[in-house]
Amino acid sequence: MRLASTLASLVVFLAHSTVSQAWYTVIQPLDTIWLSAPDKSINASYLPFGATQTSVWVNDKYGTPRDLVLGYDNVTTYLDPPSRYFGPIVGRYANRIKNGTFELDNVTYTIVKNENDGLDTLHGGSIGWDSRPWTVVAWSESSVTFYLQDVAGSMGFPATVEAYVTYTLYNDAALTIEINATADGETPILLSSHDWWNLEGYYSYDGQNSSILNHTFYTPDVTSYVAADGILIPTGELPSVEGTPLDFRTARTIGSEFNETVDVCGTGCTGYDTCFVRDHNGTDSTLALELYSPASGIKLSISSEQHAIQLYSCDGLDGTIPAKASQGGLDGVVYSQYSCAVLEMEEVIDAINNPEWGIDSIYGPDRPYTWSATYNFTIV
Ligand SMILES: *[C@@H]1O[C@H](CO)[C@@H](O)[C@H](O)[C@H]1NC(C)=O
Ligand SMILES: *[C@@H]1O[C@H](CO)[C@@H](O)[C@H](O)[C@H]1NC(C)=O
Ligand SMILES: *[C@@H]1O[C@H](CO)[C@@H](O)[C@H](O)[C@H]1NC(C)=O
Ligand SMILES: *[C@@H]1O[C@H](CO)[C@@H](O)[C@H](O)[C@H]1NC(C)=O
Ligand SMILES: *[C@@H]1O[C@H](CO)[C@@H](O)[C@H](O)[C@H]1NC(C)=O
Ligand SMILES: *[C@@H]1O[C@H](CO)[C@@H](O)[C@H](O)[C@H]1NC(C)=O
Ligand SMILES: *[C@@H]1O[C@H](CO)[C@@H](O)[C@H](O)[C@H]1NC(C)=O
Ligand SMILES: *[C@@H]1O[C@H](CO)[C@@H](O)[C@H](O)[C@H]1NC(C)=O
Ligand SMILES: *[C@@H]1O[C@H](CO)[C@@H](O)[C@H](O)[C@H]1NC(C)=O
Ligand SMILES: *[C@@H]1O[C@H](CO)[C@@H](O)[C@H](O)[C@H]1NC(C)=O
Repeated sequence: MRLASTLASLVVFLAHSTVSQAWYTVIQPLDTIWLSAPDKSINASYLPFGATQTSVWVNDKYGTPRDLVLGYDNVTTYLDPPSRYFGPIVGRYANRIKNGTFELDNVTYTIVKNENDGLDTLHGGSIGWDSRPWTVVAWSESSVTFYLQDVAGSMGFPATVEAYVTYTLYNDAALTIEINATADGETPILLSSHDWWNLEGYYSYDGQNSSILNHTFYTPDVTSYVAADGILIPTGELPSVEGTPLDFRTARTIGSEFNETVDVCGTGCTGYDTCFVRDHNGTDSTLALELYSPASGIKLSISSEQHAIQLYSCDGLDGTIPAKASQGGLDGVVYSQYSCAVLEMEEVIDAINNPEWGIDSIYGPDRPYTWSATYNFTIV
């Protein structure tokens, strides 16, 4: 068990900010933290382990609360999961690093390679930030902040990074995720929140099993995408989405050009697992995407300053993992192929190995890293 020793020694002291006379308790990595917006329009739960979002509840168009993200009922499962990355913060460098290597100041760094039999690094290596026990440093009824120190040399990265992530729920069913990170030397940083969405909470509105293929997707300012090879390593090309099944500048269902996506998610794979590049390179947060289920009436709108969006259409799920009880898991509902969409706001992936893109993903004492996204849920 990869983290048993870390977990055994972990004790976190927590100041509960909603209580006037501060009291302290012990929060373990697998203790569930519940938040709700003041108006109860949105509730969500978190684990310090991976700073993981384990549920997000909003009402559907009939006023019934639905749990919109994938997860495990038994929190112990997060330690050694059958499908990794259900809801955590991924880092220190999300997505794939070609050959697990990069150059910085004429030094070649080799990061732990944890995918494709050692051909690349995925989500920061075998023990990425999704697999670390974060510390709770602030907690109120509607907000929680986690802290992580990632020491120099960990997974092969240079420099020690300190990171904070804050989840906050607001009235009218809104959620913000804010991340910042500071490093004591130069290092690549590329972070994201890795949630798997089904805007029907796996409920069957029409007698059919819930599928992401009937959700509409809209990316108004995505003009290009990161071309990738058969194992999803960026090739260095940033082609236009024009005339491809990656063009969602007009809202349409994820399934509408699905047959055209053969090989898009790797050799022989049908579906999406793609980094979409926005025509947006700045610090202001603007609308990046909308995901909408006509059946539940729930529309998710994500605004962010981030330059790119990863969409993964849950191509690799195969129905062997039961859904959470809140999603019908006790009645036989399973996490099947194409039943969800992973949406990650991020910088353009593997920019550290593609300097010709002109994207600087190196951070350090003079350049703190920030990431934010607002998730608004409305009924349409
Ligand atoms: C949130 O939880 C409260 C109970 O604390 C409940 O009344 C409300 O319906 C929940 N809202 C949603 C959207 O799940
Ligand atoms: C949760 O999973 C752990 C590890 O598989 C197991 O030991 C434990 O009994 C499970 N707990 C429940 C309540 O099922
Ligand atoms: C791939 O990484 C290894 C170290 O793991 C290194 O020896 C080799 O030179 C790298 N190959 C390329 C093409 O960069
Ligand atoms: C890297 O190597 C080149 C060529 O040897 C040299 O000109 C440059 O100053 C070096 N850069 C750093 C940061 O050491
Ligand atoms: C990062 O976030 C934490 C928690 O909100 C805050 O205390 C800290 O000042 C922030 N640091 C930077 C560099 O923005
Ligand atoms: C829904 O999925 C379950 C589990 O895979 C399967 O047994 C059932 O036949 C499916 N129902 C429909 C209506 O497709
Ligand atoms: C999409 O919706 C239509 C109409 O409700 C339904 O017949 C079809 O089975 C759905 N397809 C998927 C893949 O869920
Ligand atoms: C995709 O191909 C299958 C099998 O050839 C066909 O039944 C289905 O209608 C096609 N779907 C779309 C959206 O073109
Ligand atoms: C993004 O903006 C920065 C600052 O204006 C600029 O230096 C950089 O070249 C731009 N990058 C891209 C890929 O447009
Ligand atoms: C999203 O929700 C936030 C918080 O309630 C709000 O400030 C913002 O205006 C909303 N954005 C959109 C696009 O609805």
